[in-house]
Amino acid sequence: MAGPLITRTVDETRRAVAIARTQGKRIGLVPTMGALHAGHVSLIRAARAETGFVAVSIFVNPTQFGPNEDLARYPRPFEKDVEICTAENVDLVFHPTPEIMYSPSFKTFVEVGDLQNVLCGASRPGHFRGVATVVLKLFNIVQPDVAYFGQKDAQQARILMQMATDLDLPVEIEVCPIVREPDGLALSSRNVYLDAAQRANATALIRTLQALRERIDAGERSAEPLLRLARAMLDATPGARIDYVAIVDFDSLQPMDRLKGRVLLALAVYFGATRLIDNVLNDIK
Ligand code: PAJ
Repeated sequence: MAGPLITRTVDETRRAVAIARTQGKRIGLVPTMGALHAGHVSLIRAARAETGFVAVSIFVNPTQFGPNEDLARYPRPFEKDVEICTAENVDLVFHPTPEIMYSPSFKTFVEVGDLQNVLCGASRPGHFRGVATVVLKLFNIVQPDVAYFGQKDAQQARILMQMATDLDLPVEIEVCPIVREPDGLALSSRNVYLDAAQRANATALIRTLQALRERIDAGERSAEPLLRLARAMLDATPGARIDYVAIVDFDSLQPMDRLKGRVLLALAVYFGATRLIDNVLNDIK
């Protein structure tokens, strides 16, 4: 099977995309940091089904990692990633170096107002500024018609939709459902950091979200008892340390006391040094 074209520079990438465009193809982009798993593959499949030319970017973006985070040890199984892209019939893999994306004179960053400093942004200062900046660069390099993101990173998706609206970006942002392991753990490139006991206990995230959803289905509309239940369940989980438990309005990402409209239940939990996130979005009348 012929593999995807692999590009490393902006010019090569633009040339390949321009050819696809002259062929009348719609361009789909799946931005990733590599270490591809079934969650990423679901985005690639959505792109493959809906667009004629599928580009996957694989770039571990240094500007979205804090000084004490896992940039150096983030997994980079590039050859395996290319095999996955080959099997999924990807047309182009853009795999730039940090030097290509960030020249020594780089100065411009994108900030997405108060959406970026809450939830994950509160414990990862500068994270979403790095995400928004790199994604805008990827959009400008590839110029996709549609870009695919996962609901797994709900705040990221919300911030990128806001950026696209505010900056009049000519790209449609599509958000795809969370892909999970059979036991409910959301797939993440960081799951490989978990030891066997942590991996077993990590199902606490989805079990907690399910317990909240059951209470909501049973009629609970007050945030406080739900937050208490979530904290109690996570506190009772061996090895788990809560970063945040939140019930927010999906539009503003601000906490709500009474549940109404598009309500995001979101968790971030440490197991050792590994930080896991999960969420469910509810539509409440
Ligand atoms: P990364 O963590 O590699 O994720 C790439 C995309 O895959 C994101 O849109 C993410 O939400 C989605 N994804 C991850 N796990 C998923 C799962 N279990 N189910 C569904 N989708 C899932 O997110 C990033 O990279 C970076 O921040 C990036 C957007 C590439 C900017 O650097």
